[in-house]
Amino acid sequence: MIDKDYITALKHRGSGDVAALINAQRDVGGVVFYNDCFANEKQPDNILLPAGYEFLKNDNPAYPVFYIGDSLTVLKKIPSGSIDFCMTSPPYWGQRCYENGGIGMEHTPEHFIANLLEVTKEIKRVLKDSGSFWFNIGDTYRNKSLQGIPWRIAIKMMDEQRWILRNDVVWNKHKGAMDSSADKLRNIHEMLFHFVKTSNYYYNADAIRQNPQTTVVRNGAVVSSSGVCGIRYRRQIELSTALSSEEKENAMRDLQHVLKKIENSEIPDFRMIIRNQQRATHSDSEKVSGRARELKEKGYYFLFYSKNGALPADVWEILPEDTQHREKHYAVYPEDLCKVPILATCPPDGIVLDPFCGSGTTNKVAYDLHRKSIGIDISEKYIDIARQRVSQLHLNLV
Ligand SMILES: C[S@@+](CC[C@H](N)C(=O)[O-])C[C@H]1O[C@@H](n2cnc3c(N)ncnc32)[C@H](O)[C@@H]1O
Repeated sequence: MIDKDYITALKHRGSGDVAALINAQRDVGGVVFYNDCFANEKQPDNILLPAGYEFLKNDNPAYPVFYIGDSLTVLKKIPSGSIDFCMTSPPYWGQRCYENGGIGMEHTPEHFIANLLEVTKEIKRVLKDSGSFWFNIGDTYRNKSLQGIPWRIAIKMMDEQRWILRNDVVWNKHKGAMDSSADKLRNIHEMLFHFVKTSNYYYNADAIRQNPQTTVVRNGAVVSSSGVCGIRYRRQIELSTALSSEEKENAMRDLQHVLKKIENSEIPDFRMIIRNQQRATHSDSEKVSGRARELKEKGYYFLFYSKNGALPADVWEILPEDTQHREKHYAVYPEDLCKVPILATCPPDGIVLDPFCGSGTTNKVAYDLHRKSIGIDISEKYIDIARQRVSQLHLNLV
């Protein structure tokens, strides 16, 4: 496996032989830089990161680059606008005791939130304008009261740092930590926020669509993928007292047109919203909704479904990964939590960042999905686990 002695020797000697350090590690599943590795050197800051970036730029396999050190200190050395995607899960406030202390050990939630906001500010700086930040944060009780930490941070990020919040995903873990209290419900969900910097961010919806749909044949007739053949809509139009005869004529003609598209498999499915018949799916205010206006002016409108399937909803059912590496690191998040974020919001040639990477789940999934990545953690032990997870994958491939 990795030539640890050699790396440690380099570290202690402070030799600054970056090329030798990278070469010693390149085929073992990732490169590790110690934040203090070149502390004796005159120019540590401008050696460390460029070396990592050089490695990220020119190696074919998506080996991660890991930095051992305090995330804020390392982040400050990363150039502005150089990262495509960030996903992370910082320690819970006051619950976990990681081997090197670090964030989460503050005396008050306010102090914890302030420290995390320093980190999110740097994340915003290093992200490209097209970038995304997926932030998973757990909550904590104090004096019987849930602290609401995820939302307190999210609101400050929006108000003070001008992040745009695109989704608040509820991660339903189905099982929570041991809880013996008899006066409240069990806690089994966590929040995963999707933040962006600008409204013009990268999003590949087709990479995450589920259940692609096709038209089907039922009793010899072509119907939509959910079985809609138009009979019910025709009857509703005919019997409607809310449509004028001209509106009825137009509605019948357009319905016929849509059914033809279903027959030709141009669209897999549709719904028709007719004035005073269906429950409308839009805001009733005509000022804000084009559909409300269409319903008022025309008397009906259509909703078309994508052939490529539907986008996932914002409640995710994912079991916690509590078997993997449990004895070494007990706050691993599941690989499935990272897949949709990376596929949808990190371009294939983009760079992934996890500033609290722990055992490297984000980096491993990035590697699986052929994205290069950077992981930062204060714990040398966890970085070692992270690198071993990726190197194991690599060894299985060769
Ligand atoms: C919740 S765990 C991350 C787990 C990770 N998502 C995984 O799947 O393994 C949080 C991590 O933050 C690290 N950490 C705590 N304070 C830190 C700091 N100031 N700088 C860098 N890492 C820190 C801890 O060592 C721990 O590994």
